[in-house]
Amino acid sequence: MSNADFERILDTSDEWIVTRTGMRERRYAAADEASSDMSTHAARHALERAGLQAGEIDCYIVATVTPDYQFPATACIVAANLGAIGRPAFDMEIACSGFIYGLPLASSLVRSGVFRRVMLIGVETLSRVTNMTDRGTAILFGDGAGATIVERTDAGDDSFLMCELGADGRNPELLCIPGGGSRHPWTPERIALQQDKLQMNGREIYRYAVNKMVETSRVVLERAGLTTDDIDVVIPHQANARIIEAAAKRLNIARSKIVMNIDRFGNTSAASIPIALSETIERGTLRNNDHILFTGFGGGLSWGSVAWRWSA
Ligand code: ACO
Repeated sequence: MSNADFERILDTSDEWIVTRTGMRERRYAAADEASSDMSTHAARHALERAGLQAGEIDCYIVATVTPDYQFPATACIVAANLGAIGRPAFDMEIACSGFIYGLPLASSLVRSGVFRRVMLIGVETLSRVTNMTDRGTAILFGDGAGATIVERTDAGDDSFLMCELGADGRNPELLCIPGGGSRHPWTPERIALQQDKLQMNGREIYRYAVNKMVETSRVVLERAGLTTDDIDVVIPHQANARIIEAAAKRLNIARSKIVMNIDRFGNTSAASIPIALSETIERGTLRNNDHILFTGFGGGLSWGSVAWRWSA
């Protein structure tokens, strides 16, 4: 879905979208494709890269706000699609912070000895919950999935270095899908009001986003005994190029270290960081022991940063 496609259906322009967000295109799932389908595809790709079979993964976690169903968990469907029947599988719902929260969780499950390998998938089919008549949100979101495998190894060096996470649920409606939950169950009126679609206070989120990304990145670096010079790659949640650039400037991190693919995918919420990580791996620029800083924020409000030492 290109900016030109939006120009045809909304009062907007390519110039406005590019300058305000850095976005040019987003990908939308096919009509018969749901989050579990994209997750399964990404999971197969990750297994292939790691040279593993689905049964060798001990637990499946899917981070998403656009599951196939309100329940059961999309992770159960993904594990079944992969043939990993019987493996534990569950979803976590913390919006765009899904991967940022999921990585320390997966890492803890592995480090504690509960599991040897955990698959963490970030996926969204946001096109299904986008209000296509609202130019303030429609242009921002896309669909996608990214899968990672976190594995315990016998090597002494830990990949997980530090995390700092947070949440503030005082104003959930700053960024939410208002209808359909136990607070506002479905009625025909609610659907007519498009309360089955995502709504957002963009300005408030923008302010929060930059502050929290900067704040948590600083805490993580300090606690991990790292400086910005020690960070080789920054993989931020791809919400808005301006948010990422403003945060990078305040952290004094060179633009060359920052991964951005927002021009091609838009904001894919929980999927954005694992997709950007996957592209970074494909480029072949990551070296063992490189320090990665993941940072993001999202609905909740929620936010966090993770420092990670890459080893593959
Ligand atoms: N095309 C043209 N004009 C537009 C559009 C559009 N698509 N959208 C809004 N405008 C107009 C507004 O109506 C407003 O017009 P007005 O001044 O006449 O009232 C003007 O542009 C400025 O609007 P702002 O909302 O102030 O624009 P801003 O520069 O803040 O950019 C944006 C809006 C891009 C949404 C920005 O606020 C943002 O990125 N916020 C953060 C959003 C975000 O990150 N959300 C995801 C969180 S992650 C998750 O959990 C899903």
